[in-house]
Amino acid sequence: MKREKKIIRNVLNEAQRLSSYDVGETIERLAQRLNKKTSEILKLNSNENFFIPLEFLRHMLREAIEEADPRIYPRDEIKDLKRAYGEYIGVNSDQIVIGTGSDHLIDLVCRIFLRRGDEALAISPTFSIYRRCVEIQGAIYKPVSLKKDFSLDAETMLNTSSPKTKVIFLCSPNNPTANRLERGEIIRLMEEFSGLVAIDEAYIDFSGGSLVDLTEEFDNLIIFRTFSKVFGLAGLRIGCAIANAELAKTIDEKFLMPYSVSLIAVKAALKILKHSEVISSAICEVKRERERLIRELNSINGVRAFNSETNFVLFQVNRSSESVYRRLLEKGVIIRNIGRVLEYENCLRVTVAPAPMMNKFLSALRETLD
Ligand SMILES: Cc1ncc(COP(=O)(O)O)c(C=O)c1O
Repeated sequence: MKREKKIIRNVLNEAQRLSSYDVGETIERLAQRLNKKTSEILKLNSNENFFIPLEFLRHMLREAIEEADPRIYPRDEIKDLKRAYGEYIGVNSDQIVIGTGSDHLIDLVCRIFLRRGDEALAISPTFSIYRRCVEIQGAIYKPVSLKKDFSLDAETMLNTSSPKTKVIFLCSPNNPTANRLERGEIIRLMEEFSGLVAIDEAYIDFSGGSLVDLTEEFDNLIIFRTFSKVFGLAGLRIGCAIANAELAKTIDEKFLMPYSVSLIAVKAALKILKHSEVISSAICEVKRERERLIRELNSINGVRAFNSETNFVLFQVNRSSESVYRRLLEKGVIIRNIGRVLEYENCLRVTVAPAPMMNKFLSALRETLD
């Protein structure tokens, strides 16, 4: 008879308490179920960037592949990327850590700062990965509600923290509320909290007002950025963390695995940084289409769209958001059902995409709500 191995069983049992990340419906699965082509499915649930032309990205990838020797580990390319990205955002290259997407770096920060029984606070609602990474460490995740207008409540956050609190997670602009948190409130947290203040700026390029300029001044600040959103490279998995040079170098040299990012991803990121005109024109288009989407949504009876400083829009419907989500799926449109956001029930989140995609989404939504 097979003897059960206790160590394995313990790990499997322990894992029961962890949440799994729900990536939502996939294009392929939905296309198969609806008997449609994958090109007929609208994927608007993960805030990817469809404004950067696919042909432009493919061209850069082809160049990156031509130049790469995949037999050799990445070498100076990471240094080059730190320098180029540092110039792009206005920090020194020794303040930057490059990882496999910002998720990877959020996880790494939790591994460094949290032990079993420690606590981490985060605004609520927010991106679910923080909870996941905190709980993997056996630490306690404490959500602190945003105010009614989605602004940061630094006072309550500080009152909720204890000597066991090692990290505070903020997301600005926040997912899913789409607003930026106030700089003064964040500075107050950094001044009065003795642990790490980790700010996820995944969507900052769509709003402006980054806090990277404070990373030299505050030794308890770390900022996460990603190449998945503004640069349209979600599939390549690359992101970074920015902190004061001592913390960044320590994370880089002592905690990060030496070859954690693929050579192709680094090369592609380097190439796209050389085309800042493509990026800035995509940002302008996102903003223009976002404002039009909000106007159109607000013109539909029973829909209320919130303001957005990101490349997605949160909106509320006057019936079950789950049923709206499901009916849109039947029409080949994937968005995200969020449900209750503070006092607002039945919220959904949709990615801002080029006008033809938005028009299809809007007519599917109108039909659904008719
Ligand atoms: C707030 C936030 N941070 C990070 C990410 C993921 O970034 P990455 O693709 O670099 O792991 C997302 C993706 O939706 C996000 O919404």
